[in-house]
Amino acid sequence: MKKLSNGRLKAEADSFTDHFHSSISFDSRMYKEDITGSIAHARMLGRQGIIPEKESLIIISALEDILKDIESGKVTFDEKAEDIHMNVETILIDRIGSVGKKLHTGRSRNDQVALDIRMYLKDQAADIKGLLLKLLTTLNNIARDNTETIMPGFTHLQNAQPVTFAHHVLAYFEMFLRDDERLSDCLKRVNVMPLGSCALAATTYRLDRDMVARELGFDSVTRNSLDGVSDRDFACELLFCLSLIMMHLSRFCEELVLWSSQQFKFIEISDAYATGSSIMPQKKNPDMAELIRGKTGRVYGELIALLTTLKGLPLAYNKDMQEDKEGVFDAVDTVKMCLPVFTNMIATMTVNKENMLASARLGFMNATDCADWLVRHGVPFRDAHGISGQLVMYCIEKGKSLEELTLEEFKAVSPVFVESIYDDIDLKSCVNRRTVKGGPAKECVDKVIEENDRLLKEMMS
Ligand code: ARG
Repeated sequence: MKKLSNGRLKAEADSFTDHFHSSISFDSRMYKEDITGSIAHARMLGRQGIIPEKESLIIISALEDILKDIESGKVTFDEKAEDIHMNVETILIDRIGSVGKKLHTGRSRNDQVALDIRMYLKDQAADIKGLLLKLLTTLNNIARDNTETIMPGFTHLQNAQPVTFAHHVLAYFEMFLRDDERLSDCLKRVNVMPLGSCALAATTYRLDRDMVARELGFDSVTRNSLDGVSDRDFACELLFCLSLIMMHLSRFCEELVLWSSQQFKFIEISDAYATGSSIMPQKKNPDMAELIRGKTGRVYGELIALLTTLKGLPLAYNKDMQEDKEGVFDAVDTVKMCLPVFTNMIATMTVNKENMLASARLGFMNATDCADWLVRHGVPFRDAHGISGQLVMYCIEKGKSLEELTLEEFKAVSPVFVESIYDDIDLKSCVNRRTVKGGPAKECVDKVIEENDRLLKEMMS
C-alpha cells in the first residue's frame, strides 16, 4: 500500500519508524468524532459546490457504513496508516475509489485532529459533569443525615472546635460544585470549531465553516488559522480541571483512610470498598481510597507533561502535539473511574456518630466558647482568652474536661462565672450557636442543604 501522505517520499519508512510515529493505538478511540467531523465537512463541500453534491452524498453514506462497521468490530486499523484520520480515509478510498479521494479537499490533518480532540473532550467533560452531579447528590444526602452528628473540627490535625459531620461533608460539596462550574467554563473554550484552518493558513476554497460548526454543535469557529491548529490550551485547562477534581477526591480519601483507622474509628468503609491482607487475617484496608489518592499523581503529571510539551513549540502544528492525547485520555479515564468508586464508597460507609462525639469531647474544643461567654459578661477578649487558657491548664492537671469543672472551680479562676457557663460550653450549643452565614449550626446547615437540593434539581434539568 502506498501511503496517502507519501507523494514526495521515495522510500518507505522502516517498520520501526512506522511503529514509532503511529498514533492509531491510542487515537482510534476518536473514530466516531473523526467520522462525524468528516461527514459534516463532506456535506459542506457538496453544499458549497466545492465537490459535486452527488459525490458528497456517496462519501457521507460510505462514512456512515464505516462507522457502523467499526462499531460492530468489523474493521481492523493499520499501524502503517499512522492515525485514525488516515485509517478512515484509506478505508473510504478502498471502498468507493476516487470519489473518496475528494474528502480531504480544503482540510488538513492538522485542523482535523484539532476538531476531533475538541469533539471528544466535549463529550468526556459532559460525562464527568454527570458523575460530579451524582457525587454532589450523595454528599448532600449524607449531610442531611448528619446535621446533628457532632465531630471535632481540626486545624493542624489537632482538635480545634466542634462542627458537625454534615458541615464537614458540605465543605466538599462546595469544592466539587466549583469543579463542576470550572468544567462548564473550560467547555466554553473547548467548544470552538477549528476546521477550515487547514494546515495552518486556511484555504482558497470557499468553505462554510459556520455550517460545519452548526452541524457539529459548536458555539463558534476559531478566529485565526494558525491558532486554530496550534492551540491546545483547552486540553491544558481540562487537565487542570481534572487535577483539581483529583486533588479534592484525594483530600477526602486521606480523611477516609485516617478516619477508618483504629485511632479514629469515625467511619467504617463497607466491605465492597475494602480489602484484606494476604498475611494479617484481621486486616480491613481502605485500598480504594488509597488508590484514588495515589492516582492523583498521574493526573497532575499529565498536566505538567502537556504544558512542557507545548512550551517550546513554534507556530503552527508540530508533531510533538500528537503527545497531547495519551495524557489527556488517561486523565479522563482516571477521573471517570475514580468518581463513581468514590461516590459509591461514601454512599455505603457507616458513620460512627458516637465515636465522633466521644472524640469531640477531647481537646477542650469549647475553650473558645468559654472565652466568648466571659466576653459577653464584660471581660475583654484578651483577658477572657487568658482565663480560659488557665482553666484548660487546670483541667489537664486534674484530668477533667471544662464541662466537668464545678462552679467553685470556675470561680476560683474568675469570680465572673455563674451557672449559665455550662449552657455555653455544651458541645451541641457550641455548634448550634454558630449561626453566622456559612456556620455549622443546624439551622444554617439545614438551609444550605435545601439550597443545594434546588441547585441539584436545576443541574439535573
Ligand atoms: N496524528 C497526528 C496528531 O495526533 C495528526 C496530525 C498529523 N499532522 C501532520 N502533519 N503530521 O497530532
